[in-house]
Amino acid sequence: MSRRDRTWGYWTEQKLGMLAEYLPAFTTASQRARTTLYLDLFAGDVANTSRVTGQEIDGSPRVALNATPPLSVVRLFELPGQAERLEAQLRAEYPGRDLRVYAGDCNQTIDQALADLTQYNWAPTFALVDQYAAEIRWDTLAKLAAFKRLGKPKAELWLLFAASMLPRGLGGDDLDAIAAFADRITEMYGTRDWREAYEARVRGLLSGRGLRDELANLMRWRIENDLGYRVTHAFEMKNTRGMPLYSMIFATDHDAGNKIMRHIYGRAAERQPQMRAEAVARIQADREAREGTLVLFDPLVPQVKPMDLYVHVPPNEPYRLPKG
Ligand SMILES: C[S@@+](CC[C@H](N)C(=O)[O-])C[C@H]1O[C@@H](n2cnc3c(N)ncnc32)[C@H](O)[C@@H]1O
Repeated sequence: MSRRDRTWGYWTEQKLGMLAEYLPAFTTASQRARTTLYLDLFAGDVANTSRVTGQEIDGSPRVALNATPPLSVVRLFELPGQAERLEAQLRAEYPGRDLRVYAGDCNQTIDQALADLTQYNWAPTFALVDQYAAEIRWDTLAKLAAFKRLGKPKAELWLLFAASMLPRGLGGDDLDAIAAFADRITEMYGTRDWREAYEARVRGLLSGRGLRDELANLMRWRIENDLGYRVTHAFEMKNTRGMPLYSMIFATDHDAGNKIMRHIYGRAAERQPQMRAEAVARIQADREAREGTLVLFDPLVPQVKPMDLYVHVPPNEPYRLPKG
């Protein structure tokens, strides 16, 4: 693994910060239910190193287990090897907590995990789907959505959706790899409809920005219209140059979840330019220390623009290629 793989950019800190804000609000709002479930389908590690500060940051498993009031039942999913290490470490750190790590591809272990949790199919449930690009399958999202007993609000979903990674994975000369990646995208969406916007981009009918927006829109549209969620929100994470990296898509049936995440997205939008500016300043200070030079002017320092603030817009009808 390269240093870059093991270190996180400021956007990861921002994402984990949003999770750390949401979960206590979720458990507080669910206090009458007395039991809450947290599912983390791509759990990762207990901690990692910030690329900005060089310090350790808690990974999502610790963020979840540190939430107060506490989540009652914590179920994590990781690939074999890392899963066992993670479970051993968390059991040592959090004795007495009801936690378990399922080892294997979460798209396969999800059936057993949800079967094991049937007794809780009435309890408020939050599922983090923190994939890299297109590892989650639509049928897994559908199983999460179908987990709760009829009449209960569905499990809330918080999905990392990396719209800019998708066209990137479809580039290059390796046709087999491109075909395999296209199949994975289709499995993630549960439909080939994403190809309409992609084809429009290839033909020059959509800009790069337009394609990313349509890809994220289609995912939200499907979550609302196919899985039946009442509302979705999307918050776009940006790198230090202000380029979009991925969106965090939130889906809920619950008024409280909708209100709380809308508020958190609004605050995150307000803070994003400042966090970016701090990350840029630290990168610049590192460079100066390394190279022994003083950079007097850095055009990368972003400006705070009111248009960066979060506004909820419902998804539109998915893009269709013009006929003919
Ligand atoms: C982006 S990291 C997760 C970071 C973590 N959620 C956090 O914020 O602290 C993705 C993790 O998913 C794991 N992973 C990848 N494919 C998986 C799969 N199909 N099933 C379960 N875990 C998977 C990887 O091993 C990696 O640790």
